[in-house]
Amino acid sequence: MPSPPRPQFVEALKDLLERVPTPFYAYDLERVGTQARLYRSAFRGARIFYALKANPRLRLLERLRVRGFGAETVSVGEVLRSYAAGYMPEEVVLNGPVKTPAALAELERSGAPTLVADSAADLERIARILPGAGVLLRLNPDLPVDTHPHLATGRGDSQFGVVPGEWPEVFERGRALGLVMRGLHVHLGSNLNNPADFAARLEVLDRLRERVERLGVLNLGGGFGLGLDPASLAPAMFSQARAYRAELWIEPGRALIADAGVLVARIWAEKRTRRRYLLLDAGMTAFLRPLLYGARHQVLPLYSGGRRAVFDLAGPACESGDVLARDVELPAPRIGDALAFLWAGAYGSAMSFNYLDHPRPGEYAWNGERWEVWRRPESLSALWRDEPDQPEYL
Ligand SMILES: Cc1ncc(COP(=O)(O)O)c(C=O)c1O
Repeated sequence: MPSPPRPQFVEALKDLLERVPTPFYAYDLERVGTQARLYRSAFRGARIFYALKANPRLRLLERLRVRGFGAETVSVGEVLRSYAAGYMPEEVVLNGPVKTPAALAELERSGAPTLVADSAADLERIARILPGAGVLLRLNPDLPVDTHPHLATGRGDSQFGVVPGEWPEVFERGRALGLVMRGLHVHLGSNLNNPADFAARLEVLDRLRERVERLGVLNLGGGFGLGLDPASLAPAMFSQARAYRAELWIEPGRALIADAGVLVARIWAEKRTRRRYLLLDAGMTAFLRPLLYGARHQVLPLYSGGRRAVFDLAGPACESGDVLARDVELPAPRIGDALAFLWAGAYGSAMSFNYLDHPRPGEYAWNGERWEVWRRPESLSALWRDEPDQPEYL
């Protein structure tokens, strides 16, 4: 289990509440530093690429870059974002099952990162538009893992990667196409908390080694849940890389930022239907994880209230699924009191969206003395910025 927020961060949050509109995301930079050190020291000698999808804010990327992290991306937008944060193409890896001609042409103009090919068709297209590019080939290890089905990307029935039986031939095909085939990529899924999943992957790689000689790079992806100790996983991962005579790369996202972040919302009504609800100004559009993954996030009241009771916490959308947590025991609040959803730093703001014209929340990071603005609250007028206000035709 991740630890609760530091008391001084909670005090700073209460101060921030007086200064910015809710809902907002807030991050404790000390926690980011602690997690970055933990992963750097467990994986000393490996290259670590931070998975932007967990939280792509430029200020965070810059911080991790100066600490020696590379960037793992899954779209041309994320690649350009990482360049905007100061990364060089050789510090960036591009994943993702679909790389369109338009995306590859953009990379030709802006600088190509290391590409992870996901299929034979991907290889052909990369070879045509970015001849001689450096490429890893993604393996589908065909392993069921212990996480939410939406997060299990390494299952045999998922759409990702090339199955072990075909992997060596497809890898050779990349070479024949003139690509610099640098190695193998495999990612099991996200939010893995069972070390047995990592061990099972090593067995798959052991078996594959009979058909694949040496690799330049063994990229074992991300997926490290907050309950895992990276130091206990690293030795087996290093020894697998040595067996392939490859450099070890990893791509943690969640582990670096999840427990540093909270989502803060205010309570605007208390009411009973057949259940007892608190109605908040944040819901699924600000924080999708509870709806998409059934994720449960601990809730910290930022008020001292009356008698404790059990509440469901619902958002402002007209969707009965817009419930961020159920059966949460809290002190009875007053209207306008605030609470924080913990461990919301990863896949929180990154997944916020504009359904129902809800602007995306502001984001702020506490450096021990001051709040740094990571993203201003989205303005209402930005919501229709890209729509013609006069008829427009093609
Ligand atoms: C290819 C790849 N690498 C890394 C990650 C990061 O995963 P996590 O944030 O769980 O570490 C993901 C996320 O699913 C991914 O798809």
